[in-house]
Amino acid sequence: MSQLRISQLDSLREHSLVVADSGDIDAVARWKPQDATTNPSLLLTSAEDPRWRPPVDEAIKRADGELAAAMDWLFVLFGREILKHVAGRVSTEVDARLSFDVEGSVAKARGLISLYETAGVNRGRVLIKLASTWEGIRAAERLEREGIRCNMTLLFSFAQALASADAGVTLISPFVGRIYDWHKQARKVDDIPIAEDPGVQSVTRIFNYYKKHGYATQIMGASFRKTGQILALAGCDLLTIAPDLLQKLASSSEPVEKRLSAEKAKALPIPRADLDEKAFRWMHNEDAMATDPRCRFGTRKINRGQSPIYFFPKKRAQSSPRA
Ligand code: E4P
Repeated sequence: MSQLRISQLDSLREHSLVVADSGDIDAVARWKPQDATTNPSLLLTSAEDPRWRPPVDEAIKRADGELAAAMDWLFVLFGREILKHVAGRVSTEVDARLSFDVEGSVAKARGLISLYETAGVNRGRVLIKLASTWEGIRAAERLEREGIRCNMTLLFSFAQALASADAGVTLISPFVGRIYDWHKQARKVDDIPIAEDPGVQSVTRIFNYYKKHGYATQIMGASFRKTGQILALAGCDLLTIAPDLLQKLASSSEPVEKRLSAEKAKALPIPRADLDEKAFRWMHNEDAMATDPRCRFGTRKINRGQSPIYFFPKKRAQSSPRA
């Protein structure tokens, strides 16, 4: 009798909600995730792909020659396309250059939500991604009160996780891969075994703290470099995974064990910590990894990720004058 073969991806879905970390609409359609997350570098890759020329051209047209508006429309129109293939939410990121600007972040988030609503998308289906700086967290606190749901990104330190939960944000995205990249570089090694992976340890610590103290904020592990990191966090509320790693998980049928458990966390002796602004800044600042710009802006995509996308609509508009 033939045995039913269950992929690791399907087994993982029994423990955590699987999210696609991609701006590639075909990939999202293929993997049928619960939610999808985008960021500027992912959307740059999609916007450069000739298959996705229609939303780029529509963004340029709707913005009527204004570069910043074209960028916002591009994010929103890709988000709307992605939402056709997910039951849940899409995350759209606020420009990282607003990381230390509460008013600017609030205004940008409100603007993106207004464009989504103009495009026929309910705000309940969008998570606004904001940098987990003190200012980004304060912006999220205000936005949540207006019914704008937030996803705290670029989250590397425990201090950022504590402050985000205290602010009552909907979701946090603690990074695994960039922490792993940083430590590999600092230790001058090619790999760090999963059992010692500081990115995996960071998410586990945050998960246990949140569950122990009953926070409603969802935890979505992000920025993965290998399937072992994902599997070590099976049981986390959500995991956002790039298409190449989704493919690897789908191709394997090795068993998946639940690694994170809210019940077990509740039994752990974890004291509650209170963090005001001064304590946050001190604790975060003490973490050399979390404050290293190579980590914040990505060790892999530092040249590609942050700025070129913001000039893309201009480049496209110049290469394709409007009729
Ligand atoms: C997801 O929301 C993040 O933007 C993404 O996982 C970051 O991944 P990276 O570290 O590979 O850029």
